[in-house]
Amino acid sequence: MSIFTLQSVKKDFGIKEILKDASFSLDDGDKVGLIGTNGSGKSTLLKMIAGLESIDSGQILVNSGARIIYLPQQPDLDENHTVLEQVFAGGEQLALVREYEELSDKLAHTPGDDSSQLMSRLSAVMQRMDATGAWELETNAKIILTKLGIEDFTARIGTLSGGYRKRIALAAALLSEPEVLLMDEPTNHLDALSVEWLQNYLNRYRGAILLITHDRYFLDRVTNRIIEIDRGDIYSYAGNYSYYLEKKPLLKNPPLVVSANIKVCCAVSWNG
Ligand SMILES: Nc1ncnc2c1ncn2[C@@H]1O[C@H](COP(=O)(O)OP(=O)(O)OP(=O)(O)O)[C@@H](O)[C@H]1O
Ligand SMILES: [Mg+2]
Repeated sequence: MSIFTLQSVKKDFGIKEILKDASFSLDDGDKVGLIGTNGSGKSTLLKMIAGLESIDSGQILVNSGARIIYLPQQPDLDENHTVLEQVFAGGEQLALVREYEELSDKLAHTPGDDSSQLMSRLSAVMQRMDATGAWELETNAKIILTKLGIEDFTARIGTLSGGYRKRIALAAALLSEPEVLLMDEPTNHLDALSVEWLQNYLNRYRGAILLITHDRYFLDRVTNRIIEIDRGDIYSYAGNYSYYLEKKPLLKNPPLVVSANIKVCCAVSWNG
């Protein structure tokens, strides 16, 4: 089932034509690599799907209820947040975890006779933690951050380098487990072990993924479809990067024109 669809989308920045007439869709569980030369419009396309960049005409239809999370090439994070606060930004789970810790601490230092109010508040907080999955979320956040090479969860974002910030934004995106994950260069700033961990994580990921990366090895191991932007046109290849390399010459230089209406060769589809 399609999770989002682009229909005849056009976009240009004055003299620079980004998309002439782009149509394609992503299905549940698709793992798509978005490729193209520098400046071809890959980041712009992700921003349009995320709703952060306007389109000139056409439409982008998103399945109702599908959450789209976008990891930008250079994330803009809140400098005053700690690592953990950033990962949970927007959710109530972290506040619940903190309140649980405070209440437990107070209870441990309060005589039994005076503790009934604290107990009933603690019970309400615990119920809310169950309902929002807060217990697992904090554990998972710490696991993902550690796998991405971040161990100080209390450090302020403002004190961290661009590479660390990108990894924190990546952790936040993974943790939110959306139906559609849009990622712009997720492996930048990761060491080889973290890249391998991310590859395995994304292979098991149940949602749809559209990712930009210059790491061809990563593309080959994670994606099952390639979309290429080339001078405003979109080409879709039903395989990974090796498949794209094999089929690209056939699509762009067809060996034989059978009919003027047929632009598609082998298993390569035109415009998604
Ligand atoms: N807001 C904007 N206004 C004008 N031009 C823009 C704007 N955003 C991007 N561009 C231009 O549009 C083109 C596509 O930019 P985009 O960042 O999408 O390319 P990209 O494929 O992601 O490139 P890279 O591989 O270098 O990340 C570039 O020429 C860029 O300079
Ligand atoms: Mg880009």
